[in-house]
Amino acid sequence: MNLKVGLPATLFDHRLLIVTGKGGVGKSTVAAAFGLLNARLGKKVLLVSLREDDSLAEIFGFRDLSYQPRSIEPNLWILNVIVEEALREYVVEKVKFEQVYKLFFENRVMQFFLEAAPGLDELLCVGKIHYMANLVSRKGGPKYDLVIVDAPATGHGVSLLKVARTAAQVARVGPIAAKAREIDAFLTDSNQTALVLVTLLEELPVTETIELLKVSTDDLQMKVAALIANKLFPLIRGIRAEEEYADLRRFMEKKRGKEVSEALFSVCDFARSWRGRQLEYLEQLRRKGGMTLSTLPFFMRDQDPVSSPRRVAEYIEGLSTGGEE
Ligand SMILES: Nc1ncnc2c1ncn2[C@@H]1O[C@H](COP(=O)(O)OP(=O)(O)OP(=O)(O)O)[C@@H](O)[C@H]1O
Ligand SMILES: [Mg+2]
Repeated sequence: MNLKVGLPATLFDHRLLIVTGKGGVGKSTVAAAFGLLNARLGKKVLLVSLREDDSLAEIFGFRDLSYQPRSIEPNLWILNVIVEEALREYVVEKVKFEQVYKLFFENRVMQFFLEAAPGLDELLCVGKIHYMANLVSRKGGPKYDLVIVDAPATGHGVSLLKVARTAAQVARVGPIAAKAREIDAFLTDSNQTALVLVTLLEELPVTETIELLKVSTDDLQMKVAALIANKLFPLIRGIRAEEEYADLRRFMEKKRGKEVSEALFSVCDFARSWRGRQLEYLEQLRRKGGMTLSTLPFFMRDQDPVSSPRRVAEYIEGLSTGGEE
């Protein structure tokens, strides 16, 4: 696939992509955009959100979360890993008897398990992701060609991705240790699984991203396949050089008077200086990140929550310019 915006051509050849980054930087938007894009191009894609995060459901207009994969549009499904359901599924699968589960795990006992065992809920989450990414269809091929996880923000995301290794070390032997080892091997297999880091071009997100890059490779031992700088302010259309900008300012002043011109240009100046600052952060990321960077423009939003991911998807595919011509 020939992708725009500097995304590596092999990005969507992975089976599992985990989108993470600081809170509010655009993780859900990017995950949804990747889903829409790949489904349109003919891949069977599963979007996964975790725990009580319902932003993906919201983007696609669902009121509630669903543990069962739900169809969004051709080739695209969504599910939310509800921890209680994952525990029930695991126990029923192991014990093979729903009644036993009901007896022991329903309500308070289950709640006790989830609260008492540190990392159990995270282990159930990655367990479910691993399970879905390795599901086989009736014909024998993978049920989903690509699973995309809208992962929690940085800190939680890291502990989630590390929990399988920790569980394997703690349990050492037995079925849980074996499963945890299998999950960890899958997450750290760079042919199958990759991280996508999203950031804004602002001080804190950039600092956190540089740290996360280091943690991803050194600590998690996972491949970062893409680093995406989101919401880059577009150039003011048609104006590239300083002289053109100054010309336009003089022209406006002559046509509409100083007051109107100043009011208008204060907004333009702000947008330009913001973009200038963003480009400095981009450069900092480039220097310290040590990998190819992709940028996504800031899209003006309309009412429909799916509009940002759709625009991002079109932009990645090269169907729109996002104001950068
Ligand atoms: N390129 C973009 N242009 C314009 N708006 C965007 C863009 N990317 C994301 N947004 C908007 O920014 C807001 C935050 O994005 P999003 O919800 O995807 O972030 P997040 O990282 O998933 O946040 P959280 O950490 O809360 O889960 C949303 O309103 C989204 O529509
Ligand atoms: Mg989100």
